[in-house]
Amino acid sequence: TPSTMIDRFGRSISYLRLSITDRCDLRCTYCMSEDMTFLPRADLLTYEELDRLCAAFIQKGVRKIRLTGGEPLVRRNVMSLLRLLSRHLDSGGLDELTLTTNGSQLQRYAAELRDCGIQRINVSLDTLDPDKFRAITRWGDLHRVLAGIQTAQRAGLAVKINTVVLKDLNEDEIPRLLDWAHGHGMTLTLIEVMPMGDVGIGRIDQYVSLSLVRNRLAQHYTLSELDERSGGPARYLRVHETGGKLGLITPMTHNFCESCNRIRITCTGTLHTCLGQDDASDLRAPLRASADDRLLIAAIDRAIGTKPKGHDFIIDRRSNQPSVARHMSVTGG
Ligand code: GTP
Ligand code: 5AD
Ligand code: SF4
Repeated sequence: TPSTMIDRFGRSISYLRLSITDRCDLRCTYCMSEDMTFLPRADLLTYEELDRLCAAFIQKGVRKIRLTGGEPLVRRNVMSLLRLLSRHLDSGGLDELTLTTNGSQLQRYAAELRDCGIQRINVSLDTLDPDKFRAITRWGDLHRVLAGIQTAQRAGLAVKINTVVLKDLNEDEIPRLLDWAHGHGMTLTLIEVMPMGDVGIGRIDQYVSLSLVRNRLAQHYTLSELDERSGGPARYLRVHETGGKLGLITPMTHNFCESCNRIRITCTGTLHTCLGQDDASDLRAPLRASADDRLLIAAIDRAIGTKPKGHDFIIDRRSNQPSVARHMSVTGG
């Protein structure tokens, strides 16, 4: 019988974000420090364990799973995990299986992704300028990402672009990104940078509020609010000139915690019920303690009962300390 997980604030938890690796082939300056140390591979949950974990959460009422990272497509043999998980799409246990990627591996994987039932993906892309792309990602090749996006679209995947707006780096490029994304039939979602993890750069030097960006855009485009929410943190606007949609993710200026439907698990099996809080529950120990899922289910139930009301990200001008010590690449967004 299908069940649902309801937390203390009456929110129903139906969306699991699963980080399958903390590694990435890029080092975006707002996400990682240059000398980021990664977890030993032996600490990672195996694909069998990730599969068991997902099955338990589906039994508990999760309807959507998104693989994240780090960069999910750099974990070895990632398609074998996706093929395992895709059986839940066939059985009706899941409504959606998807992923968030930096796009660098899409030329190789797009067709296989579509073949295992993935219909849409989110690609992180902060600039269309090859030099800026290298400056933001530290060594990434823009051309490869653009070619990956094209391959994905040709394979029939719907693509949404996620752009973190960065002070002095890409804030002036948003109109160009908007025209490009909409011109290629993609929604563009803008994100406010969040103070997660020490990246060796003051967050105040990176942060731009999306209220400001929106006001600037409104001088050149006609924007109207759409009612729909994807069940995610984005609010959407219609851009009349292009006909496309613009999403805004504004954790810093308008939080969306009251409608939060999600939890996330790190690649070592730690459950975080909130992106912006330190709460953590270990699921690896109960997973490994016994082949039946009773301990695991009990740990999940306990954890859901601790989901905080919301985050309180602050960018502190004086200390520049991250609000949350974990990096996004460990938490999985
Ligand atoms: P859709 O399914 O397309 O709605 O995607 P999504 O917005 O759930 O996922 P995506 O991976 O595209 O996330 C976009 C951005 O939102 C990332 O930067 C995430 O880190 C951020 N984000 C996701 N969930 C949360 C959350 O619960 N709180 C906050 N503050 N940010 C979040
Ligand atoms: N603040 C906001 N977004 C971030 N991302 C990574 N680190 C941060 C941060 N500190 C974004 C990536 C990607 C998504 C998964 O998270 O650009 O789009
Ligand atoms: Fe990699 Fe994404 Fe972090 Fe950039 S934002 S370093 S692409 S995980």
